[in-house]
Amino acid sequence: AAEDGLNAWLRYARIDRAGHCQGKLPSTIVTLNATEGSPVYTAGQELSKGFNGIVGKKVDVDSITTSSRGHHSRDTNATVGTIAAYVDSNPGAAARLPELIDDGFYLSVSHGSILILGQNERGALYGAFHYLSRLAQGDCSDFTLTSNPGAPIRWVNQWDNMQDGGTHGSVERGYGGKSIFFWDGKVRDDLTRAGQYARLLASIGINAVVVNNVNADPKTLTPANMDGLARIANAFRPYGVQLGLSLNFASPQTLGGLSTFDPLDQSVITWWQGITDALYQRIPDMVGYLVKANSEGQPGPMTYNRTLADGANMFARTLKPHGGIILFRAFVYDHRTLNQTLDWKADRANAAVHYFDGLDDKFDDNVAIQVKYGPIDFQVREPVSPLFSHLRKTGSAIELQISQEYLGQQAHLVYLAPMWKEILDFDFRVDGKPSTTADIISGRRFPRKLGGFAGVVNVGTNTTWLGSHLAMSNLYAYGKLAWDAKASPEGVLKEWIRLTFSDDHKVIDVITKMSMASWPAYENYSGNLGIQTLTDILLGHYGPNPASQDGNPWGQWTRADADSIGMDRTVWNGTGFAGQYPPEIAAKYEKPETTPDNLLLWFHHVPYTHKLKSGKTVIQHFYDAHYEGSATAQTFPQLWRKLEGRPGIDKERFEHVLYRLVYQAGHSLVWRDSINMFYFNKSSIADVHGRVGNH
Ligand code: GCU
Repeated sequence: AAEDGLNAWLRYARIDRAGHCQGKLPSTIVTLNATEGSPVYTAGQELSKGFNGIVGKKVDVDSITTSSRGHHSRDTNATVGTIAAYVDSNPGAAARLPELIDDGFYLSVSHGSILILGQNERGALYGAFHYLSRLAQGDCSDFTLTSNPGAPIRWVNQWDNMQDGGTHGSVERGYGGKSIFFWDGKVRDDLTRAGQYARLLASIGINAVVVNNVNADPKTLTPANMDGLARIANAFRPYGVQLGLSLNFASPQTLGGLSTFDPLDQSVITWWQGITDALYQRIPDMVGYLVKANSEGQPGPMTYNRTLADGANMFARTLKPHGGIILFRAFVYDHRTLNQTLDWKADRANAAVHYFDGLDDKFDDNVAIQVKYGPIDFQVREPVSPLFSHLRKTGSAIELQISQEYLGQQAHLVYLAPMWKEILDFDFRVDGKPSTTADIISGRRFPRKLGGFAGVVNVGTNTTWLGSHLAMSNLYAYGKLAWDAKASPEGVLKEWIRLTFSDDHKVIDVITKMSMASWPAYENYSGNLGIQTLTDILLGHYGPNPASQDGNPWGQWTRADADSIGMDRTVWNGTGFAGQYPPEIAAKYEKPETTPDNLLLWFHHVPYTHKLKSGKTVIQHFYDAHYEGSATAQTFPQLWRKLEGRPGIDKERFEHVLYRLVYQAGHSLVWRDSINMFYFNKSSIADVHGRVGNH
């Protein structure tokens, strides 16, 4: 069962139609120009492993070099390689093959022959995984498919620390155990899990992992640690996954012993060039850097009155000769100086657009800006960050969080794809034209070369990776949406269920039902109407603590008092944040009447008795939503119990999931009563249904 956890959706479990499909599979797998350890080589191994597991047919891998002409692939082969290699041995085929872009693939299955071609080696591996995914879902029929990624940047970020106080590699906001990469301030000797992680990631189209915390430790860059990083890159390489690195801006001073880390100082530039060269010497295919600067106490270019672009470009120029890119984070704000009491117009949400103002045409072409989906911090409901609409010349990547920091920390089932989908489909109406988030980051709305997705995943040593079997649907869906933002959250979920558990209809129905109900339920029993999640914000970002939001400089304020609640972010009377959107959207958010109810308190400060479009008052909505959300969570354990003994639901995973769902049902009641009592105590307005208040 631990193996089931580790393999997640790549279990290659035997299907019911195995007998039927056996006859349809080829007798040989042929890899084209595969050197051992290359992605095409891996594709051959995976196909062989998959055929054996899924239908019980042992098929050997035959490796050929296409220069040895005459060794044409026979009809009953599974052939896998790059388009170039294939055309090399089948020149006539060129005309009938489709156009692919980097990482794209072409699949053609007909009468027992399978052709899997990638634009590059990685694409060929993606094609093999795609084919196996269909087979594992019981489909061995003929088909042809061309698939290209929607965006080139499809990364994950791991917030892994090299050390945790004394000896252990911890993961910031990680709920699945210790780091799979670091231990005791060093890179682990055994990197088996790193390879297994890369395998999972490759199967959903992820092409790079930033392995260390954005709050980066300068010691990551010692020669010994660079050697270690090269070993991680080696573990990733068979899967076409590239390594990226978070940097600490002050390293030239703290690690290098220079007197400054000013990005315009020549000694600093030279120091970074030396580091970059040393890394590329060890890891020639390193993808590049990720930098968090001037945020939450981290150093950055603004320490020297330089712009964020000065900082980003310094790294970009060291990377340029090596073909590397840098993702520079837009999560820039000062958590020390915001003053809620004195300043009605102070607003952390304004920070990103403010700091990047005037910089859009200042970034080098190997820089992309990594923007969290909302302007604050991974809340259960935020408007989409307006910064996306300001970056027209600079590429951008959306930062999503698979690790459920504010969203139940994997102890609650919260399927996030529906939320991501709303964010990706949001239309900014830039210049009055359709301008969805998805089209902006893919480079379709404003022609740009770089862009895409960064997902904070934070897996750990736990055999479930994230700490919960069901939470893995979020990782799966993240990869699928990064590949194709048009994918349907429910469709992707069902795929994941079939691969992870089985295609038993009851299993699919129950897990789909719970998962699709889970984000609305969590929003209902945590923070409503755009007030943010209302977790404790000073400690762990877990559990209800609405009082912790206000009265501190972190800026996740609600401004709740005895009569009214919400952040006034209007232009006419508030912080002005609404005005950061293009005019059509800004006008909508400026007025309570045109602001959607689910964002009302994000944009407006209103009395608890304010009437929503639904006809309810704000306070009554709070009460009702908390009862509804927790009632939904009460149904999860009952639903799950129906799956005991069903196909694919082994005892270990059954119990593991049940334990969490029972906990969630209980904790949702804690949420319900804490939040409802808190706002009753503030407002003294009783629930019309008599559940909350003194009666
Ligand atoms: C959140 C999170 C931090 C993290 C930060 C970031 O605030 O709680 O742990 O460092 O985001 O994304 O940089």
